[in-house]
Amino acid sequence: MEPSADLSAGCPFDVIRDERKSARIAAEHVVLDGHDAQVIRSFNFARDVLRNSIAKQAGAGAEQVDMGNPEHASVFFLDGDPHRRKRSAIARFFTAKAVTTRYRAVMDRTTNALLAQMKAAGGARLDAISLQLAVAVAAEIVGLTNSDQASMSSRIGVTLASSRRAKSYWLARILQPILFRYRALSFFYRDVRPAITARRKARQDDIISHLLDEGYSNKGIMIECMTYAVAGMVTTREFIVMAAWHLFERQALRERFLAGDEDDQLAILEEILRLEPVASALHRRAAEEISGLGSHPIAAGTVLAIDIRAANTDESVTGACPHQIDPDRAQRMKMGGAYLSFGFGSHRCPGSQVAMHETRVFLDGLLRVPGIRLEREPQVGWNKMLMSYELRDARVACDRG
Ligand code: HEM
Repeated sequence: MEPSADLSAGCPFDVIRDERKSARIAAEHVVLDGHDAQVIRSFNFARDVLRNSIAKQAGAGAEQVDMGNPEHASVFFLDGDPHRRKRSAIARFFTAKAVTTRYRAVMDRTTNALLAQMKAAGGARLDAISLQLAVAVAAEIVGLTNSDQASMSSRIGVTLASSRRAKSYWLARILQPILFRYRALSFFYRDVRPAITARRKARQDDIISHLLDEGYSNKGIMIECMTYAVAGMVTTREFIVMAAWHLFERQALRERFLAGDEDDQLAILEEILRLEPVASALHRRAAEEISGLGSHPIAAGTVLAIDIRAANTDESVTGACPHQIDPDRAQRMKMGGAYLSFGFGSHRCPGSQVAMHETRVFLDGLLRVPGIRLEREPQVGWNKMLMSYELRDARVACDRG
């Protein structure tokens, strides 16, 4: 049965058919019940928690972050009014118009340059070029445009690799500790500081200029840049490689992707992201007792660990065959395509459209290159700090010229 076949009638093969590539590594590494956390696996319960204003951001790092001046803390750590103000201030960088006009130009330009290099060499490492694309796009939004981008891309890769052993959950836990490490400082001095200096002289239409207008210190700007490096660059790299892997492997899905219009291509990518969420878990803490969710009140102080993988495959919202790729599923079930892979509620990923469009543009170009093939599959590893799969050393080959 092809992945796009009608699965609405039930899934006779579900027991044996599991198309997830990251399920095994996640099962080995994801720990959700530390700190006596209440683990949430139901989609509806998870969504109710994520939209509840009493449930505050809680990767353990969130509690260690200096909130002395909440106006200058990273958007990821904020809650309540300061968070709302910050989100509305940055919203203009993430509108559909900004994505399809201004950032689309960077996506096209960078994709063309990366694919030209790949064709000249007869191949490339997929995770390396995916990171370069993700860095170029996020750098344009943030305003990290005054240093060499290929070097910045490897500095970011190395900085985040260097903290892989940190004991942490998702994005939140890494920001403070790595700030003081040598590699993070190198990122600061070579990439962030030159961008700040240039914008002190002449503001531009980007996040660093906005932060300067708000009176942020260099440290505050650096923390924000690290947020985007992790949230926007590294996550997108992993997803591009994962989506490419699925599309290389499945001829029918690849043909549908290449023949499809933009909406259909996005539906395919969102369905892959549903099945292979980059962030496996999100954490919240009940600031006060929460009642009305589930059968018992949630006591104040309880950590809520949302199992995104389980919620995204909850049959009550996916229908039959939750472990299979079915790009028509979301529409049939009247659901948002990526389910909870971009979160939900006030912290929902502002960069979701950016990530999906850049992945779509890049893979559409890549899969049309003459002779393109996946020469070596990625090695599947685990990144503790992101609680995410990590796909390395995949190699694509193509006709040279
Ligand atoms: C496939 C790629 C991506 C995935 C899977 C992803 C996933 C997520 C998730 C799950 C959250 C919610 C965290 C929570 O609720 O605790 C989030 C937040 C965030 N993402 Fe993304 N993201 C991606 C790409 C991007 C991009 C491209 C950008 C920007 C250029 C970005 C910027 C952010 C920011 C700033 C936040 C924090 C928002 C807040 O706390 O209000 N992300 N992301």
